Amino acid sequence: EKRNLILSFESSCDETSVAVIENGCKVLANIVATQIKSHQRFGGVVPEVASRHHIEIITTCIKDALEEAGVAYDDFDAVAVTYGPGLVGSLLIGVMAAKAVAFAHHLPLIPVNHMAGHIYAARFVDEIKFPALALLVSGGHTELVYLPRENEFQIIGETRDDAAGEAFDKVGRVLGINYPAGKEIDELAHQGKDTFHFPRAMEKEDNFDFSFSGLKSAFINTVHHAEQIGETLDKADLACSFEASVVDVLAEKTIHALKKFPVKQLILAGGVAANQGLRERLDQELKAFPDVQLLKAPLKLCGDNAAMIGAAGYVGYKHGVRAGLDLNADPSLEF
Ligand code: KG4
Ligand code: ZN
Repeated sequence: EKRNLILSFESSCDETSVAVIENGCKVLANIVATQIKSHQRFGGVVPEVASRHHIEIITTCIKDALEEAGVAYDDFDAVAVTYGPGLVGSLLIGVMAAKAVAFAHHLPLIPVNHMAGHIYAARFVDEIKFPALALLVSGGHTELVYLPRENEFQIIGETRDDAAGEAFDKVGRVLGINYPAGKEIDELAHQGKDTFHFPRAMEKEDNFDFSFSGLKSAFINTVHHAEQIGETLDKADLACSFEASVVDVLAEKTIHALKKFPVKQLILAGGVAANQGLRERLDQELKAFPDVQLLKAPLKLCGDNAAMIGAAGYVGYKHGVRAGLDLNADPSLEF
């Protein structure tokens, strides 16, 4: 049987990425050009700067991806692209590039939701079996998503204020850690103890929603109060206490959802899915659910990348999902 080849694009935020994916589950190339250095001095992503970087680098990314995969435009069956959610100017660059390739080479264009892409990063570990539940934790989103069958997504709970990754990044700023701070806080956390016992918002409530702004405020107040009285707090203990609170809440709510929604798999995905504390905690908790397989997105594919967009695009392709050349970016796209 002929292999299926998809050329995929991701440019929703501060990563320009182009990938070549075989049969929806094999990465032949995954070029990721990160702009993090350009945004760090501003403490976060500057949309205008992001768009300019995307447009400068995207053709180089395509060229590198084709070269690394050893394929030509004629080999592809389809082009897949993230069209939302994200920064509109950034999204538009990927959408335009994908359209140009689709038009020039007479290929179908598959529109992909960035969050579905994150979920499908798990496809590189194993096949996704339905029904499944996904804990989707990124810089912009924190959601529990129920997947009754392929290509169907139902949000059963989400954050009411900050996303988990956003909380990591804001707390990082107070600790003097560069954006994005998640990875460094995670490393610090493993050298400290939970001595501060920060609040665990909504942990015991009978719903699947989250809230992280109270935790963020508690953290910032603790640090500022210590500064005022000239006390120095242990950074590792602060990081550990913060991470313990986030992980507790994410784990508790996920377990609560697993009890209400019997599923075959729990998928952990999104940038914050790289968190070691969270990965270890879910490994532990899932021992009580022997019938549920834990599918953690590969560490290297937790952050934004086009490989996951290719995997999700393949599913759309099989289901006949197509976009015309009038496809537009949708910055607030929902499932
Ligand atoms: O999914 P992603 O790459 O971009 C969005 O779509 O938002 O997620 C980026 C977020 C950032 O907030 C970053 O601090 C966080 O993921 N992150 C982590 C870790 N690695 C990245 N948060 C906690 N622990 C980590 N190891
Ligand atoms: Zn993302």
